[in-house]
Amino acid sequence: MQLTSVTYTSLARLDPQSSDLDQIHQVSRTRNSADGITGLLVFNGTHFLQIIEGSEKAIEDLVDRLRKDSRHSGFEIRDKRKIERRSFPDWRMELVQVNPSFFEARDAIAERLPETVPEAIRARLLRMTELISTIEFPS
Ligand SMILES: Cc1cc2nc3c(=O)[nH]c(=O)nc-3n(C[C@H](O)[C@H](O)[C@H](O)COP(=O)(O)O)c2cc1C
Repeated sequence: MQLTSVTYTSLARLDPQSSDLDQIHQVSRTRNSADGITGLLVFNGTHFLQIIEGSEKAIEDLVDRLRKDSRHSGFEIRDKRKIERRSFPDWRMELVQVNPSFFEARDAIAERLPETVPEAIRARLLRMTELISTIEFPS
């Protein structure tokens, strides 16, 4: 079956007093099982970077729901492509919480990625981690 993979970034608008992140993760896993969606959700304390993969219809429906979700803003699709096989076949939605520093985040994600992730996607993901990272240079 032809699959679609979408990678996006967004700015988190979570209520710090709430369990928003846990809820997002729980609902995602349950819902994704039913919808045949797999993927990875990276959260660095301020931004999200998510890869979702599944049938074109399931991914389009999820993107519509994500665009309307007020728990994040600045939703921006960074990559959309057809894929032959899943990069994250065993992850209904894996949450990877990382440090805001690009270099630490990149290393933490690299360590977590399963072997099913092709080299090109691994490289793209690690590059994109820079988009959600605040890099502070010494003045
Ligand atoms: C950062 C982020 C990631 C999310 N990831 C998923 C996901 O992978 N799958 C999913 O079904 N919902 C995900 N959601 C939740 C959806 O936006 C939506 O609330 C949920 O699918 C239920 O939609 P409904 O209330 O219209 O049925 C995510 C929300 C946020 C803020």
